[in-house]
Amino acid sequence: MKRFSIHFGLVLILVAGRAVAGDKPPEPAYFSWQVKDFAIDRPLGGRVGVAERGMAVASDGHRGNCLACHLLPISRDEVFGDLGPPLAGIASRQSVGAIRLHVVDQSYFNPETVMPGFYRRPEKLHRVAKAYRGRPFLSAQQIEDVVAWLATLK
Ligand code: HEC
Repeated sequence: MKRFSIHFGLVLILVAGRAVAGDKPPEPAYFSWQVKDFAIDRPLGGRVGVAERGMAVASDGHRGNCLACHLLPISRDEVFGDLGPPLAGIASRQSVGAIRLHVVDQSYFNPETVMPGFYRRPEKLHRVAKAYRGRPFLSAQQIEDVVAWLATLK
């Protein structure tokens, strides 16, 4: 009887684990995207962005690191770079699809840009350390989070 309940417990754990994993499928390394009229209208991989998370990604020096080059409208005591334009009010100047393309691959707008393409097509990534080959700098979810945050900056 004891044996039975141990097995039963194990089965429950396995089933619960599956259900959790099933809710959030692991992110594939890369989703393809299409550009039309200087915009990517569809969210990458159909992911739904969360603005608060996007703000964290944008202001994190190890992830988006956008503040290395852009003045961001966040009320924190950060040091900002100014190689790029300030991003306050970006959503009143550009469509969400255009904002997405800026973040995914700014070289569509300016082939000489210093801004990293955060979700460039893998074949356009050169001189990347082996561990990162075929992988964009940010995940599709992180891109959508950043885009969702930028879309609130009107
Ligand atoms: C190494 C510097 C650098 C980093 C890092 C960087 N950018 Fe940029 N970005 C630029 C520059 C410079 C431009 C201006 C256009 C150009 O020269 O390509 C720009 C342009 C943009 C634009 C278009 C702005 C407009 O008004 O048209 C957006 C949106 C943008 N960046 C978002 C981001 C986000 C979001 C991040 C972080 C995930 C980021 N950038 C990281 C340098 C950078």
